[in-house]
Amino acid sequence: MLVLAIESSCDDTGVAVVEDGRRVLSNRVSSQIEVHRKYGGVVPELASRRHIETIIPVIRAALEEAQTTLDDIDGVAVTCGPGLVGSLLVGLSVAKSIAYGKGKPWVGVTHIDGHLCAPFLEREDLVFPFLGLVVSGGHTSLYRVEGVGRTHLLGKTRDDAAGEVFDKVAKVLGLGYPGGPIIDRMSKPGNPRTIRFPRALLSSRTLDFSFSGLKTSVVNYLKAHPLQEGQEDRLVGIVSGFQEAVVDALVRKTKQAARQHRFERIVVSGGVASNSHLRRTFEEMARAEDLEVFFPSPELCTDNAAMIGVVGYHYLQKGWTSTLSLNAFANLPIPLEAQLTGSFTKDADN
Ligand code: KG4
Ligand code: ZN
Repeated sequence: MLVLAIESSCDDTGVAVVEDGRRVLSNRVSSQIEVHRKYGGVVPELASRRHIETIIPVIRAALEEAQTTLDDIDGVAVTCGPGLVGSLLVGLSVAKSIAYGKGKPWVGVTHIDGHLCAPFLEREDLVFPFLGLVVSGGHTSLYRVEGVGRTHLLGKTRDDAAGEVFDKVAKVLGLGYPGGPIIDRMSKPGNPRTIRFPRALLSSRTLDFSFSGLKTSVVNYLKAHPLQEGQEDRLVGIVSGFQEAVVDALVRKTKQAARQHRFERIVVSGGVASNSHLRRTFEEMARAEDLEVFFPSPELCTDNAAMIGVVGYHYLQKGWTSTLSLNAFANLPIPLEAQLTGSFTKDADN
């Protein structure tokens, strides 16, 4: 089954062609970093306008690379939420139009299920159930994942997402946008223990995260000890200490969740999961805890449509399709009624 997948929930226009939910025939991403760089973050109105300009050329390029056409695809999968509603609506409208025009089945998929299922594109040995950590610019959440789309929230950030604090701290330090990859690169020669920033909510009573205090403590540290021109080593010390604090909080909470819920395997996905220090630290923890850890490769960690194609394939194969009344949703949980009042047609058990 060939699925054309479309992802436009934030600032990347992604289109992929995925075969049988496993094989990526094409996975095109048109990045909007240049549009948003000067603002130090995504400007929703500019994002949706750029999606409108790029989506058709990206679809053409993805079909061409996969050496297929709209007539040959078997179905369409599209992100319907969570995300920026204006951005989501572009992908959703195009998906509906293709499906209606070509008489193909189509289905709405949540962005989170996409991130959690991305490893299936590369690893045949991943099986359910697993503990899923989605850590990106918009999300930092832990899930019990029992099947494709059978995703139960265990804990989430109470304030900022981890990627958001990477971007904000980079902005405060004048390092550029997006901050995550820049801080990752800069921290490589640094000593993460030169400056110890606080970690919040480490008590065993919750599986939630909190990162806004960390961001504030970096700002306060800089006020108390201003950075002078040419103090490169100090700057590297600050970003390494900050990165260590984020990674430590993520790894400890995930370890706690794995122990409490007796998981044997973990999936770590989303943009921040491409962080090299995070990957190393998770691997060490997994070895010590006798857990298996699965990371998608970096280009499948950040937003892309191939991951939406994995979920879409499984839904379409079960006969689950969406109707034209399906709307875009900014937040999770996507209301159940959207799945029951005709948006999804279930003719198979999940
Ligand atoms: O998954 P993603 O592409 O979009 C969202 O769904 O949010 O994640 C983007 C986020 C940005 O905040 C970016 O700074 C962060 O992922 N990111 C990283 C790295 N690469 C991307 N954070 C830390 N280290 C990285 N190497
Ligand atoms: Zn994402």
